[in-house]
Amino acid sequence: MSVTDISHRKKFPAQGNIYLPHIVVIDKIIEETPSVRTFHFNFNFKDGKLRKEFTFESGQFAELSVFGVGEATFCISSSPTRNDHLECAINRVGLVTNALHRLGVGAEIGFRGPYGNTFPLELMQGKNLVFVGGGIGLAPLRSIIWNVLDNRDKYGKIDIIYGARSPADLCFKYDLDSWNRDKTVNTIITVDKGDKNWTGKEGFVPAVLEQAAPSAKNAVAVVCGPPIMIRLTFPVLEKLGFTPEQMITTLEKRMKCGVGKCGRCNIGNLFVCRDGPVFTYAQIRSFISDEY
Ligand code: FES
Repeated sequence: MSVTDISHRKKFPAQGNIYLPHIVVIDKIIEETPSVRTFHFNFNFKDGKLRKEFTFESGQFAELSVFGVGEATFCISSSPTRNDHLECAINRVGLVTNALHRLGVGAEIGFRGPYGNTFPLELMQGKNLVFVGGGIGLAPLRSIIWNVLDNRDKYGKIDIIYGARSPADLCFKYDLDSWNRDKTVNTIITVDKGDKNWTGKEGFVPAVLEQAAPSAKNAVAVVCGPPIMIRLTFPVLEKLGFTPEQMITTLEKRMKCGVGKCGRCNIGNLFVCRDGPVFTYAQIRSFISDEY
């Protein structure tokens, strides 16, 4: 079986009835960007049994609901290797996310999931890993990055290339600091345009990736970020020698029901919720430039 043959992976069933939200309680809120558009929520199940028994894998997503307002889809940004609580990063962009941002610690919200397939971690063991992220696209990546770092001896060289539009738009700065300090990881942080205090790298993520030029030999690249960044990153990886089967991404766009019923998330002949959200570039390259 090839490392990049991710279609075989089992899909985790939701916990219990797939349509039934469970109550979770928000126990921490971190403001990720000063523009107040991205908050990072930590939460846990109200039900102690579920708190103990709930499982998920890196790459999966969930539906969060604000009662009386509605629900929306978010990737789970925490790692299953650190399962004392769950985390989701939420950009304030619509009705549900605005309502979520108005909540405080102690508020109860609905959670259903986990849904979708997972990053093929078992098949990535022994490989060199290249993580390429942009903006809030680091949310799903940080789940797999922490998962890999918590099992460091199972993987080869690790490169993390992450960027945002400005220093203020960099998310998860505490993680970036931690990865920067980790001598077993090559972390490169970049911004499109720095401010007067920025002493780090400037440049768009695909260009910085090209400069860094990680080897494609025995490697897998995992890419997540804004659609334009994803579209421009794949050709760079190809130029570096990565095959479409060695490139993995996770798509989050346009999901609604999360369980293959509403038809909102189709891309080409695939449903993001049912067939993904994790795909190889080989699976999506014929339609990603038109539809994503
Ligand atoms: S979100 Fe409804 S079918 Fe995918």
